[in-house]
Amino acid sequence: MNTPMKLTILGATGSIGTSTIDVMLRHPKCFQAYALVAHRNADLMLELVEKVKPEVVVMTDETAYHSLKERLPSNVRLEYGMEAAEAVAAAGEVDMVMAAMVGSAGLPATLAAIHAGKRVGLANKECLVTAGRIFMQAAKESGAEVVPVDSEHAAVHQALAGHDRDSVTRIILTASGGPFRNRDPKTLHNVTVQEAVAHPNWSMGAKISIDSATMMNKALELIEAKWLFDAKAEQLSAIIHPQSIVHAMVEYRDGSVLAQLAMPDMRSPIVYAMQAEPRLESGIPWLELAQTNPLEFQAIDEARFPAMALVKSVLAGEDSLAIALNAANEVANQAFQDGKIGFMDIVATVETVLSKTNNQHVETLEEVWQLDAYARDMAKDVIAL
Ligand SMILES: NC(=O)c1ccc[n+]([C@@H]2O[C@H](COP(=O)([O-])OP(=O)(O)OC[C@H]3O[C@@H](n4cnc5c(N)ncnc54)[C@H](OP(=O)(O)O)[C@@H]3O)[C@@H](O)[C@H]2O)c1
Repeated sequence: MNTPMKLTILGATGSIGTSTIDVMLRHPKCFQAYALVAHRNADLMLELVEKVKPEVVVMTDETAYHSLKERLPSNVRLEYGMEAAEAVAAAGEVDMVMAAMVGSAGLPATLAAIHAGKRVGLANKECLVTAGRIFMQAAKESGAEVVPVDSEHAAVHQALAGHDRDSVTRIILTASGGPFRNRDPKTLHNVTVQEAVAHPNWSMGAKISIDSATMMNKALELIEAKWLFDAKAEQLSAIIHPQSIVHAMVEYRDGSVLAQLAMPDMRSPIVYAMQAEPRLESGIPWLELAQTNPLEFQAIDEARFPAMALVKSVLAGEDSLAIALNAANEVANQAFQDGKIGFMDIVATVETVLSKTNNQHVETLEEVWQLDAYARDMAKDVIAL
């Protein structure tokens, strides 16, 4: 019998992290937890430890770390901080790392896994948006396999498998349109956080739900696709598909279009990232096309979703623009969650920061962090935080 694959889950307490644990519990002979990593949520971490019995737990928030000290079973090693997260991502025992922290905070530990040549299930798109060139180059050098977890990119991965890359003409990501697809744009300035996080089809963490409402999520995903699939800007596009059944399409030179379909449940791309073949049961409902609503597609209106206009210039430009877009968006998204700015100010802040960012090539991680910090400061100035 094959030995189970050992996993480190970065962002174990989040939406992707807990769905990963759900998949692991369905297949105990295939997967075992080596380490669970999270930030603040000590209570949920304790529940997850009881379920999957990891060898190590890492909390990156000091209070959460101290609150777990007395409560964890004695055979579980508890560690604190980002360096410990990097160590458990790169540990010799680990076969696969699920990279599911939110934001560019996930970059150091995910990169550590890449440098150590691990199989990496990549949910954390911000890693590739900020440091795609460095990340993919490091994977090439170490032999790390990067398997996308984002449902659209997992769909592209499947539609590309076994096909000649030079025959690809277009990669088309679908977007649900989020909660405000049909709302009068004039009323968008006063939407609440609760309205923005109420995604019609997916259950996700707060940041990505708000990114979906602004369409910034699709902007980040187009940049992510550029790096994952070595695609040119003109090969990348997105289309609204409100039912979220078709996750992406790949068009080939002969006019064939291969699409991947599944019910909108992240356990499908998660299980695919953990083990592509043979396929494992994921727990998601079966897709009964005759009983679902008709599948619809429509062009994205850039006046309603200005993030889509912004990403075109970012895709056509140098890496500094993607770093600025991501950093400014993280600051603005959080400011909206904290009630400091309105919904429409999120993309407006990103646009202002981008307009002040030099279009420059980026080669090193030091440059990435400098540009990231610079863009965050600029965004805070714009918002007057
Ligand atoms: N959710 C989805 O359906 C979905 C789909 C596609 C892609 N993604 C991507 O997957 C990533 C995770 O999304 P999510 O929806 O799962 O987010 P989430 O529910 O907000 O969870 C985020 C996780 O990251 C941890 N975390 C946050 N800040 C951290 C820090 N500074 N250091 C260490 N850990 C930190 C959180 O820990 P605590 O909770 O303990 O504080 C939590 O475990 C994002 O990049 C998102 O874009 C998500």
